Amino acid sequence: MTRNDLWEEAMEWGMKNRLAQLIKSDGRCLFLPIDHGYFQGPTRKLEKPGETIRPLLRYCDALFVTRGVVRSSIDPENTKPIILRVSGGTSVIGKDLSNEGLTTSMEEAIRLNVSAVGMSIFVGSDYEKESLLNLTKLVDEGEKYGIPVMAVTAVGKELEKRDARYLALSSRIAAELGARIVKTYWCENFEKVVNGCPVPVVMAGGPKVDTELEVFEFVHDGMEKGAIGVNLGRNIWQNDYPVPMIKALRVIIHDKGTVKEANDIFEQEKDKKKVPKD
Ligand code: 5RP
Repeated sequence: MTRNDLWEEAMEWGMKNRLAQLIKSDGRCLFLPIDHGYFQGPTRKLEKPGETIRPLLRYCDALFVTRGVVRSSIDPENTKPIILRVSGGTSVIGKDLSNEGLTTSMEEAIRLNVSAVGMSIFVGSDYEKESLLNLTKLVDEGEKYGIPVMAVTAVGKELEKRDARYLALSSRIAAELGARIVKTYWCENFEKVVNGCPVPVVMAGGPKVDTELEVFEFVHDGMEKGAIGVNLGRNIWQNDYPVPMIKALRVIIHDKGTVKEANDIFEQEKDKKKVPKD
């Protein structure tokens, strides 16, 4: 074996080790994104990210956050894997959310000891090419150091884009360009998205929906259709009962529970949180 072979093998070990930290031994994962402030500012229930994270940390498999939140709001003794959000540069009041660039270097990701980096791509937007070439640059850097890249198939404000045709196209492109994990939205006919994507797929939730049951139903459907887990934010931490919500989602993701089982856990845990009235 040459010195180069040994070096490459060591790098491959790092990549495998990081992916193993993120994806549990059952092949499934529950990532908790708390990155929304990077373009939405102090959005509802994320005004103090540290306070949002604290009660939920023990129930997630990894956190998806920016470097600002890592440094300011997460204890360095934290042992949960971090997926570092490394794209941004736009805001909800700016001209175009799709005009993102890379915001954080790979050196910084290594310094922060993260398990992966994540960035958004905007297929079909005016900045499609820039975001896709940024993904390829990030993948080149990540592969050099054994750091997996999670690509986020973003839609900006055009939430209506979230159908199987569009999400299958974006997810496939992300995988072809080298993402190790693709984060996309659940949609009707979700199997088309998963079946067309040769790397693991996790589901985001999008804006908070009206009932918990809707969340359990789409997560369950997506898991049945081949997703390996979720990267679900607002539908957890904007819920009035975030801890019961994340515990219920674990039932579907890690215990392979039904929608009813998840809902029962949610109701039980919610009742425990209710303060008894005199
Ligand atoms: C925001 C993101 C989020 O990580 C992603 O959208 C998941 O969060 P949510 O479930 O709230 O949609 O990429 O930029």
